[in-house]
Amino acid sequence: MKSISVIGSGTMGNGIAHVFSQHGYDVALVDIKGEFLEKALTTISKNMDRQVSKGTISQEEKDVSMSRISTFTSLEEGVKKADLVVEAATENLNLKLDIFRQLDQFSPEKAILASNTSSISITKIAAVTKRPTQVIGMHFMNPVPVMKLVEVIRGYSTSNEVTRLVMDLSRNLSKDPVEVNDYPGFVANRILMPMINEAIYSLYEGVAGVDEIDTVMKLGMAHPMGPLQLADFIGLDVCLSILRVLQEGFGNPKYAPCPLLVNVVEAGFKGVKTGEGFYKYTPGSKDLVVAPRFSKSIG
Ligand code: CAA
Repeated sequence: MKSISVIGSGTMGNGIAHVFSQHGYDVALVDIKGEFLEKALTTISKNMDRQVSKGTISQEEKDVSMSRISTFTSLEEGVKKADLVVEAATENLNLKLDIFRQLDQFSPEKAILASNTSSISITKIAAVTKRPTQVIGMHFMNPVPVMKLVEVIRGYSTSNEVTRLVMDLSRNLSKDPVEVNDYPGFVANRILMPMINEAIYSLYEGVAGVDEIDTVMKLGMAHPMGPLQLADFIGLDVCLSILRVLQEGFGNPKYAPCPLLVNVVEAGFKGVKTGEGFYKYTPGSKDLVVAPRFSKSIG
């Protein structure tokens, strides 16, 4: 495989494009607006600059990697040479189904179609294409250039050969792929989201404050971020939608999202991307400040 198309240039899409280009693949990055693509190239360049300043890559490697990325606002043009397409669009079922119908129509017959979905069924996505054996999940973790895992999800019809190719390809990206089957939340989010939900319940029920909950998990369990900070980092709306997929998929009330999470999202506080969630984020500042609404002592 040589040519990779990445659909969606947001946080996950630009991270995926970054990693593929850095490992020698030609990347066609596709989004609906030129300004989104420009922003993504700026982000990739800045993230590669971090690596240059750390000595992980040279300036020349950065320049060559950047030159391997081309951008497209037409999906049809962007996927026509693809050996593999990785879809990283917004986490919305109908949008993804629509994109996969188009990928099936416009990408070469042999191309593998992967989704970076965090919880939508690969089997359901594959079923709208005429090549369900070539549809698979490639679930990268944020920040993509840093996190080692790719959760490789086999849909109900995904072939052994396609799974093997995607496992090998992930290793070529210096990642550690793990193969899992297609059930709600796969493995990563089936375990992560109930932990985040429980942390929000602990806050909601007044067991402890934001800082205390996160500190317990950081210092007691060696998590790099506490669950509430991690929820802000992932996006509170994304956490809510994944919990709903788990709740619906298993029909078990234990996955029901905490009412506080529902309220916070409905009020428009979605975490880092909106500037506020459980913490308040000021551009340019690395300080972790609890959002005013949660900063009152619970004692
Ligand atoms: N690109 C390139 N390098 C990056 C980067 C990026 N986007 N973001 C961070 N880095 C690098 C930094 O340059 C730094 O490099 P060195 O170690 O060489 O110095 C390193 O990563 C650590 O970064 P920072 O010093 O800025 O900050 P940190 O030590 O606090 O680490 C973190 C930041 C890596 C994000 C860390 O806090 C962490 O691991 N958090 C948890 C992340 C996590 O759990 N991700 C999974 C989320 S779930 C998901 O993605 C899937 C889903 O379906 C919901």
